[in-house]
Amino acid sequence: MTAAIFPSETPAAELQHVRGVIISGGPSSVYDPASPTIDPTLLASGIPVLGICYGQQLITHLLGGTVSHGVKGEYGLAVLDRFAVESPLLAGVAEHSQVWMSHRDLVTAPPAGFRFLASTHTCPAAALEDPTRRLYGVQFHPEVVHTSYGRQILQNFVLDICACEKDWNPAGRVALVEEQIRRNVGDRNVFFFVSGGVDSTVAFTLCLQALGPERVRGVYVDTGLMREGETAFVEETFSKLGSGVVDIERAAAEFLTPLAAATEPEQKRHIIGEQFVKVQERIIESRGLLDGHWILGQGTIYPDTIESGGTAKAATIKTHHNRVPGIQKLMEAGRVVEPLADFYKDEVREIGRQLELPAALLDRHPFPGPGLAIRCLCSDHAAAVTATPDGYIVPVHSVGVQGDSRTYAPVLAIESFPTEAARLQDTATELINRTAGVNRIIAQVASKSPLAEQQVFACTITEPRLDLLRRADAIVRQMSESSGFEDKVWQFPVILIPLGTATAKDSIVLRPIQSVDGMTADSVCMPEALLRAMAARILEIPGIHGVWYDLTHKPPGTIEWE
Ligand code: XMP
Repeated sequence: MTAAIFPSETPAAELQHVRGVIISGGPSSVYDPASPTIDPTLLASGIPVLGICYGQQLITHLLGGTVSHGVKGEYGLAVLDRFAVESPLLAGVAEHSQVWMSHRDLVTAPPAGFRFLASTHTCPAAALEDPTRRLYGVQFHPEVVHTSYGRQILQNFVLDICACEKDWNPAGRVALVEEQIRRNVGDRNVFFFVSGGVDSTVAFTLCLQALGPERVRGVYVDTGLMREGETAFVEETFSKLGSGVVDIERAAAEFLTPLAAATEPEQKRHIIGEQFVKVQERIIESRGLLDGHWILGQGTIYPDTIESGGTAKAATIKTHHNRVPGIQKLMEAGRVVEPLADFYKDEVREIGRQLELPAALLDRHPFPGPGLAIRCLCSDHAAAVTATPDGYIVPVHSVGVQGDSRTYAPVLAIESFPTEAARLQDTATELINRTAGVNRIIAQVASKSPLAEQQVFACTITEPRLDLLRRADAIVRQMSESSGFEDKVWQFPVILIPLGTATAKDSIVLRPIQSVDGMTADSVCMPEALLRAMAARILEIPGIHGVWYDLTHKPPGTIEWE
């Protein structure tokens, strides 16, 4: 049984073959004239429909119920309290369970024929149903791991209500994916820009296996934005897949020169994406790969497509480097193959194991395509920090995701460090909810002077700043790996921010997080002794003024800072 994504306005007549429909969440309000809608006849078709978040509000609105503007949004964890009614949607769900919410509007009166199934503290209609018309809705997000019974609820809908068969097994799909690669590629060859990460290596290996070593080539572009030792690691990894299948292209100047004039995060991402395409075109041209016999292979995975707006109405949560205009053009020309586009990260790792790729590679933390550029924050002007009752607002632009859309906002910095795990989590959630206009909270681990004496400096990405970041990142990775902490977290970004004093203008932020699929994440608590030792070593780097710890969950803050 497979699932497919359709635009929301798809006529119901075109959906007659499906077993069920899920209407996704989104950042709109049903009262915006431009908000996405569905063909209302779908709701009378007898096909089971589950609306999630905005989807639930849309069903309610179209059928005459009431959707109200919430006074206060609800972002993050909440407790779902089930009512004493039997419903196939909530079968097997405990009376009280954790759910994850991200909304402002909410359903306050159901349409005729509907009943409420559960509530949370601030949301009277956390789940509803009209069993006769087979219509269901949930205000929370069952698709994220923080909803304890999310899988159960989706399974109830898909297997019981829609009566679909359960036959999804990513590792068992290797042969099918290889077949698809052969079909898409036809008699052309595939050329990859590999990154050394899990996704592009698995995608590359799948193509290598599907098409044979003569028809697949890779280049690893050293953008000058790599971590310490990365290029050597990649060279060694790919030499094991076959000699000469992957070359190294050293292209730092092509990235760092245009980046030297950029400070805006989206502009930086755009430059990197465009430079990738230019480097790619140069390489393709210089190798005579322009005769239509070659197409581009990419390791894009499913969340990448969703987050960069997989359908016309989806919000752009981040502009992915695999989806910049140059690459879009190639896609439109049918010159891109993305064997992993339907898979999540954990499924990609499973496929990698099936392909017998080494664990050292498969278990690596994800690392973003634009590299250290999105961990090296810039500012187009110098600016002071501002005192608030809870700490200081630091005017660097870091990205957050609230209510499904992407926002850039300053950071709230607190000078005391909360040591206990529970305190850490409370602090983040509490402060974010009560501080307007910030989407991230950092706490000071070590500093050369009080925050009141520090400022944000105007800067762009430069070699010396990248070197500072690389040095700090290498220290963190070495200590994290040798202490065993690295295996306990999903990712451990290290970020350079232009905060300090005239003698040391930058500081380091540590962002260890726990996640299952990268879509949501929790900040994690580090062993105190390890943290202190790490901070002390980082503070020894000349040019580094302080070491901070990011306490923010995703949402409201993304994993990366840009
Ligand atoms: P965010 O920051 O959106 O990140 O919470 C979710 C996951 O995606 C990774 N990431 C990227 N990976 N190109 C990539 O290949 C990118 O532009 C990019 N941006 C974020 C991030 O490291 C995390 O694992």
